[in-house]
Amino acid sequence: MRTQVVIIGGGPSGLLLSQLLLRRGIDNVVLERKTRDYVLSRIRAGVLERGLLELMREAWVAGRMEREGFAHDGALIAHEGGTFHIDFKALTGHSVMVYGQTEVTRDLYDAREAAGAETLFEVEQVEIHDADGDAPYVSFRQHGETRRIDCDFVAGCDGFHGVSRQTIPLSVRREYEKTYPFGWLGILSETPPVDDELIYANSARGFALCSMRNANLSRYYIQCALSDKPEDWTDAAFWQELKRRLPGEVAERLVTGPSIEKSIAPLRSFVCEPMRWGRLFLCGDAAHIVPPTGAKGLNTAASDVHYLYNGLRQFYEEGDSEGIDRYSERALARVWKAERFSWWFSSLLHRYPDQSAFDLRMQTAELEFLRTNRAAQQAMAENYVGLPY
Ligand code: PHB
Repeated sequence: MRTQVVIIGGGPSGLLLSQLLLRRGIDNVVLERKTRDYVLSRIRAGVLERGLLELMREAWVAGRMEREGFAHDGALIAHEGGTFHIDFKALTGHSVMVYGQTEVTRDLYDAREAAGAETLFEVEQVEIHDADGDAPYVSFRQHGETRRIDCDFVAGCDGFHGVSRQTIPLSVRREYEKTYPFGWLGILSETPPVDDELIYANSARGFALCSMRNANLSRYYIQCALSDKPEDWTDAAFWQELKRRLPGEVAERLVTGPSIEKSIAPLRSFVCEPMRWGRLFLCGDAAHIVPPTGAKGLNTAASDVHYLYNGLRQFYEEGDSEGIDRYSERALARVWKAERFSWWFSSLLHRYPDQSAFDLRMQTAELEFLRTNRAAQQAMAENYVGLPY
């Protein structure tokens, strides 16, 4: 079997890249380790930047998102019993779209099924061969059979634990990592959101976030210990702890109900350099991870997809390799800025076990500066709505 681009990973970045390439007549195959249902059962963040909206429009998969998503012109930050507002629209001219990553993935699967595009599910033992030569190929096992696909390029969209990054030899790969001494416990509940906007809360008991999916579906998170298990937290204990971390008037308005999903995610900052090795290109979580505080995970994957898609298009349509040659440099320049923002916003809002009295005062001073200074708010808002590609 032969194709132009083998895409490893059927999550949102692989599917989006595939759809964009197909629209340009660039042949590709997507390999996914799990099933479609498994991929669609994963709940992820739900805030999309305008760059991702543009890509979805270009891929012709924006219809449902435009009908059912919610444009948010700002967000609230809660601190010391009160809240203040960051007005993204007034500060930057842009808003963000609240629409679940799971829904983006569902729309992409529906579009590729309608177009008859090929996805190979439940593939195992994926190996990338000769990525540093002119004729790479990918081998794998599927349903007991060994298979091979020859290609021009390989896009590694297979996440943090995938094989793509590991294929780049250690002699050329450099990794930068920071782990955080806490996790996020998240629940989804069929209750109306506590506010029209997202609320990011800094409290003495730890961080909390009030988010949403629609008028009757809310997503809430609280900072928890890394050793906590979702089973340790009853719904009642979760709601009680969330309320204690929110300003009184917000807690009073909170509507609680049974959780329909509950999970814990650790927080990590991670970047792999370079993002290209020969004919292999890394995209999204395969190359970098951000803590979820700025909702930058999917959005940063989307900017990689933008640079790679345009590089491949330039190569196939104009015979010019400039875009793919500069892919790693361009993608990383933006990745590091998203890393900085996510790290800064995390450090502003969480309680750290080793925080000194001085560190706590610094956090308060930083929050006060953000509350009262337009330039600080503008810097925050520009990053939140997404830096330009
Ligand atoms: C979410 O809705 O799941 C969500 C929103 C904003 C974040 C993280 C997660 O920063």
